[in-house]
Amino acid sequence: MAYLFTPLTLRGLTLKNRIVISPMCQYSAADGFTNDWHLVHLGSRAVGGAALILLEATAVVPEGRITPDDLGIWKDEHLPGLRRIVDFLKSENCVAGIQLAHAGRKASHSSPWKGGAVVPESEGGWQTVAPSPSPFSPDEPAPRELTLTDIQGVVEAFRVGTRRALSVGFEVIELHAAHGYLLHQFLSPLSNQRTDEYGGSFENRIRLLLEVVAATRAELPDHLPLLVRISATDWTEGGWTAADSVRLAAILQDHGVDLLDCSTGGNVPRADIPVGPGYQVQFAEQIKRETGLATGAVGMITEARQAEDIIARGQADLVLLARESLRDAYFPLHAAHELGTDVEWPEQYERAKPRRR
Ligand SMILES: Cc1cc2nc3c(=O)[nH]c(=O)nc-3n(C[C@H](O)[C@H](O)[C@H](O)COP(=O)(O)O)c2cc1C
Repeated sequence: MAYLFTPLTLRGLTLKNRIVISPMCQYSAADGFTNDWHLVHLGSRAVGGAALILLEATAVVPEGRITPDDLGIWKDEHLPGLRRIVDFLKSENCVAGIQLAHAGRKASHSSPWKGGAVVPESEGGWQTVAPSPSPFSPDEPAPRELTLTDIQGVVEAFRVGTRRALSVGFEVIELHAAHGYLLHQFLSPLSNQRTDEYGGSFENRIRLLLEVVAATRAELPDHLPLLVRISATDWTEGGWTAADSVRLAAILQDHGVDLLDCSTGGNVPRADIPVGPGYQVQFAEQIKRETGLATGAVGMITEARQAEDIIARGQADLVLLARESLRDAYFPLHAAHELGTDVEWPEQYERAKPRRR
């Protein structure tokens, strides 16, 4: 049996294999609500054999959306649509997870296919917030610096978001602390110039993330895992580093985080990133090796054999696929065949299942 198809247990939750659908914004929601697109898109990937699907960055407050078209979980009215998706994923033996997010200074932009520019308040955008009043790029309006009271509001929004997600049956929560969004903005000295207890030293910059982790963990029952996605490096002089990530990982482990999803970049516009096959796996490997915390590898993992090697060599505990899963919703089923492992197909598709080589 391929290592890629061995189960993984995190706390009391068992994933049937090591393939996760990475969170991917669909920019297809109105006022944060899911619709048929989300059900069909996510449902297809559950049919395709993934063990866990992480719903896209889902905003815990409206001003935390990257675009006006993002999913949200800031009001109870969002819950029936989310529940419908969770129920379908579960019916396909796929675990439903959700990435809770706040975009901070990178909020209020238009969706990629609408140009991706700042949406001004006059056109339905909003004033963004951040640890410090410095914009992501110099041509963008400055965010408003969060006050200490606002920061407690952010923690509370993640807490309530977690509670809502659990109420509709999500079994995995992932906190989005990567890609230059709000929690990452606090972590990195490139975006955090605060002089109070949330800025300056490493301990101060990680404080908000630890508070959000504590609030989230307090809502989660003991048997359900908490994941955090970080950008393991800013790829920029003076920014967050891999060594910082190792240090953070050890602390998160003590605070009840069960797996670190290791991405990189996104906090500054022009970082020099050596993009190539599996280019971020090294960070998942280093963090796992140096702390013992379980990790997920993501980024240009596109082939069954490549994914298998990552798990077999113990570089990471899970692989997360984004674009390859858009090209091939059935990647897990295809990978199992390629690797000579027999996995269950949905019974409706059983007659199309290739026989083992
Ligand atoms: C359409 C699209 C939307 C994405 N949205 C998110 C998101 O909501 N949250 C997140 O953490 N990463 C997001 N990402 C990044 C992916 O999760 C992943 O980390 C990245 O694409 C690298 O993996 P890949 O090479 O398999 O595509 C998105 C990527 C794509 C292509």
